[in-house]
Amino acid sequence: MCGIVGYVGDANVQEVLVNGLKTLKYRGYDSAGIALFDEGKIKIYKATGKLENLSNKLLNLNSEIKKPSMGIGHIRWATHGVANEINAHPHTSTTGDIVLVHNGIIENFKELKAELEKQGCVFKSQTDTEVVAHLISEEYKKTKNLKDAVKNALPKLMGAYALCIMSANESDKIVVVRKNAPLIIGVGDGENIVASDIPAIVSTTSNIIYLNDEEVAVVKKDSVEIENLNGEKVPVKVVRISIETDAISKMGYKHYMLKEIHEQPNIVRNLLCGRIGDVNQPIKLDEVKISRDVLKNLSKIQIIACGTSLHAGQIGRYLIEDLAGVSCEVEAASEYIYRKNTTDANSLVIAISQSGETADTITAVKQAKEKGAYIIVITNRPDSNITRYADSILNVNAGIEVSVAATKSYTAQLLTLYLFAIYLAEVKDEGKDKLVNIKKELLSIPTKMEEILSSESDIEKKADALSKYKNFVYIGRGINLPTAMEGALKLKEISYINANAYPAGELKHGPIALLDENMPVVSVLIPGHISYDKTISNCEEAKARNAKLITVTSSNDENLKKLFDVIFKIPEVSDLLSPLLTVLPFQLIAYHISNFLGKDVDQPRNLAKSVTVE
Ligand code: F6R
Repeated sequence: MCGIVGYVGDANVQEVLVNGLKTLKYRGYDSAGIALFDEGKIKIYKATGKLENLSNKLLNLNSEIKKPSMGIGHIRWATHGVANEINAHPHTSTTGDIVLVHNGIIENFKELKAELEKQGCVFKSQTDTEVVAHLISEEYKKTKNLKDAVKNALPKLMGAYALCIMSANESDKIVVVRKNAPLIIGVGDGENIVASDIPAIVSTTSNIIYLNDEEVAVVKKDSVEIENLNGEKVPVKVVRISIETDAISKMGYKHYMLKEIHEQPNIVRNLLCGRIGDVNQPIKLDEVKISRDVLKNLSKIQIIACGTSLHAGQIGRYLIEDLAGVSCEVEAASEYIYRKNTTDANSLVIAISQSGETADTITAVKQAKEKGAYIIVITNRPDSNITRYADSILNVNAGIEVSVAATKSYTAQLLTLYLFAIYLAEVKDEGKDKLVNIKKELLSIPTKMEEILSSESDIEKKADALSKYKNFVYIGRGINLPTAMEGALKLKEISYINANAYPAGELKHGPIALLDENMPVVSVLIPGHISYDKTISNCEEAKARNAKLITVTSSNDENLKKLFDVIFKIPEVSDLLSPLLTVLPFQLIAYHISNFLGKDVDQPRNLAKSVTVE
C-alpha cells in the first residue's frame, strides 16, 4: 500500500523515480506523483489512476523539465481523502518550501491540523500527510536547516511514517526518516536512492542501508549521514543484498500471479532442503529459539493473521492439534485485539504475515507481546516491521511476491506450519511412526505439485467455461475447509465474482436456500477420512437443488463422474497433506477466470499488497 522512491544523482531523475515506482505498483495504488528539484526550484507533477498517466504527462511536458538534481516520488492508495490530484503526494507547506511524500498514517493529524491552521497554515488536501509538511515548515522557520526541522517536528507526530522530504532552500539533499513503516536507502556510486521496498532500488544498486525507527538520514549524491533524535551520529551500516531480479520480472509469463503459482514446487523443495534429510531423524528448525522445556509444556497456541495468511493459520491449527496434540486457537488479527484474558506470559502466539507490514497483525502482535507472550513470526520479509516483536522468526523464503493475490507465499507459509508442527511433535515425543510417514510424503509434494501444474491447459479450459457464473459457493470439511475459503477468496479478489465458502455441514443450515442452477457448488474431496463421505452427501443435497457440482479431488472413484459436472483431479495424497496440493487448482481456476474476463489479474481494484492501516 503506497510506495516511495527518492533519488539524488546524475541519472535522469524523473526516469529513475517513475521506473522505481513501477516496481512498487504491486503494492496497490490509485494516484501517483513526483517532485523534482530543477533549475533551483521544486516542480511537482501528479496524476490520478495508473502510473502511465503520470509518465504520459511527463512526456508531454519534457521541455518544462531541464536537468533535475534530485527528486521524490510516490504512489498513493487512498485512505484520507479520495483519489484525486490534490490528495496525491508529494504534499507541500503553505509557501511550498517543504515538499514530501509519506507512507503510513498520522493518527493525530486532526489535532495538528487545527493547531497549524490557527498559526496561519493553509491546507489544500484532505490527507493526514499534509500536516507533516506544514509542521516541518514551521520548524524550518526557526532552524533554517532541513534536518533539524525534521528532527524537531517528529516528536509531535503520532502513528507510522516513512517520509522523504526536500526543501526548496537546500538543493543537495533529501532527508528521510521512518517509524513503523518500511524505508531503505540504496547506496550507489555518485548517486543514492531511497525506497519503501527493495524492487525500486535494484536497478541502481545492491548496497543497502536499513534505517531504524526515528533515525534521520541526510541523503546527498555522495554521502549518507544518519542521526538519532538526540543528535547523536549513528554508524552507517551498508549490507549487500542478493538482487532478486527473477522475482521482479515476469520471466515470460503473462502475469506475475501465474509465474508465482508456477514457482511453488521449487519453493517447497528449497524449504524442505536441509530441514528434512533422513526422515528417521528429527526435523531441523533452528530458527525456533524457544526452549524445548517450554515447548514440551505448552498447553495452548494462538495463531493470528489476516486474509490468505489467516487461511494458512487455520490449516496450521489442524496440524498443531493433530501432530503435536496442543490445543490451538486461530483468530483474525483485527478481531484478536478485542479478546480478553486469552493471552498471558505462558502463551505462544504465532503471527503469520507475508509482508510483515500488515497493521492489523502488527497491532495484535504488540498486544500479545505486552501481555508477555512468546512470539513466533512466520513471514516472507524477515526485514519487515513485524519482526521487531518476534522472539523467533521463521522466514518462508518465497522470494518477493509481486502479484497482489498471495499464492506462493501462502504455500510457503503452509509448509512452514507443517515443519513447525512436526518439530513440536518431535520435541514432545508424539507419534514417531506417523511423523516418519508424513516427512516421507512431504518430500513427494513438489513432484505432485508439478503434476498438477502440467495439467494447466485442462484446468484453463474448465475455468473458462465456469467464468459465465456470477456466484459460487465453496465447501469443505476439516482441514479442507480453509482451502475452500482460500479458493473462494482468490476467485473474488481477482475476478470480482461473488464466492462464499462454508463448512460443508453448514450448507443445510441456511446457505442451501441460495442454490439453484445458477449457483455452482465447489467442493474439496480427499478420501481416507470420515469427512469424505459426509462432504459427498452435502454435494448430493446441493445437486438435488439443481446446483452444478464442481470438485477438486484426489479420488479415483469413477462414480464421482456421475455426480459431478466438473472434476479437477489431483494426485493421491493423505488428507493431512492435501492442502499443499488442493490449493493449486483453486489458484489456477481463479487466475484463468480472471484472465478470461480480462481483469487486471496482478493489481485487482481496491486491493493493496500490504495493508498498513487498520
Ligand atoms: C489475498 C491477500 C490478502 C493478504 C492479507 C494479509 O490474496 O493477499 O488477503 O493475505 O492482506 O497480508 P499479509 O500476509 O502480508 O499480512
